[in-house]
Amino acid sequence: MNEWVNAMQARKWMKKNESFLPVWHAYVGSELQLFDQFKQARTVESVSEETGYPVDLLTSWVRVGVAVKHMKRRPNQTFRTSKKRCASIVGNNASPGVKALLKEIMELHMPTLLNYPEYMRSQSRARFDHELHGEVVAETSALLEHFAIKKIKKMIRDRNVKSIVDLGCGHGGYLRKLADDHPDVQMTGVDINKNVIVRAREESAAYPNISFEVGDINAWTPEEGRSDVILLHNIFHYIHPNLRMGLLDHLNSYVARDGLISVITPLSETEHGEAFSSAFNSFFVAHSNLFALPNKLQLQDISQSCQFEMFDLDPIIKEGSWFTFWLSPSVHIKNLHQRTGTDDHDQTITGQNQPQLTQTS
Ligand SMILES: C[S@@+](CC[C@H](N)C(=O)[O-])C[C@H]1O[C@@H](n2cnc3c(N)ncnc32)[C@H](O)[C@@H]1O
Repeated sequence: MNEWVNAMQARKWMKKNESFLPVWHAYVGSELQLFDQFKQARTVESVSEETGYPVDLLTSWVRVGVAVKHMKRRPNQTFRTSKKRCASIVGNNASPGVKALLKEIMELHMPTLLNYPEYMRSQSRARFDHELHGEVVAETSALLEHFAIKKIKKMIRDRNVKSIVDLGCGHGGYLRKLADDHPDVQMTGVDINKNVIVRAREESAAYPNISFEVGDINAWTPEEGRSDVILLHNIFHYIHPNLRMGLLDHLNSYVARDGLISVITPLSETEHGEAFSSAFNSFFVAHSNLFALPNKLQLQDISQSCQFEMFDLDPIIKEGSWFTFWLSPSVHIKNLHQRTGTDDHDQTITGQNQPQLTQTS
């Protein structure tokens, strides 16, 4: 190949790599609280002395920081964190969500994606370590609560809900947000990860109506009665595609006949956020114990096969391809239609043509 063309093509790829640097720099600074160390202008040597981090590594990190504008050069060989660019990762107002997200990208996603050649060559897969990574995943997942909770609150506000179950509840943030409005509703969080449940219990200590159990949602059932509302948030990629129908069937055995299941999941093959969801998918399928994201059609198919009506499918984070929707036992909706004399309706009911879900008993 022509030497010039070769060099120019390599240069193009080198430049593309630049966009990776801010995330790497932010991750290192956030893990080691370096942005706090440089909150006031300081020399690298003084920070090195205080932290014990090697001067050469620290100098190099600071130089990248200046290049990506996370750090500012100050007089007398000192450097300071840019308040404007690093507001979310410095000081008392640093966002724990940003820290968790950087950790997840760099410690989980990047190493897995970098191992793709090895997985392909050896036809092997990684194994997701729930004990090691469960906490950080639960934390980044919880970032969606803010975007999703309004729709859930609105739906259950006027219904006579007595029990809510959150399956794969993580740290239990949805239940706490709902308990703020419904202190008399009995709420139960179930998660397979003991550490996650320990933290969920700690964070929910002030809510007497919330309890937590360690359990596998494929087998767990409430102690008594049926559940009025079930939350199934960010769970499908933990369940083998062949077992998803079994899970929905299982939920149908204990959700109240006029009850609801709130589902949140990233979807594959959607019109929004394809880059992110395909990267996310790549991470999941590289593990033997995590699975491909469902697409809309697959969800519609399994919902219908399990006698659920699926409705109100809305994107919540378009760039991440995250969607919310409801599942309701079909029998209830069919009864409603018979009572109201409505014609047969689409398999997927949208926000506009969704029937008014009212109490039947
Ligand atoms: C991505 S987190 C989602 C947490 C929370 N639902 C949310 O949306 O913020 C998935 C959670 O599901 C739990 N999980 C995965 N498989 C499970 C199973 N079979 N039974 C119970 N929990 C499970 C994991 O331990 C993890 O805490």
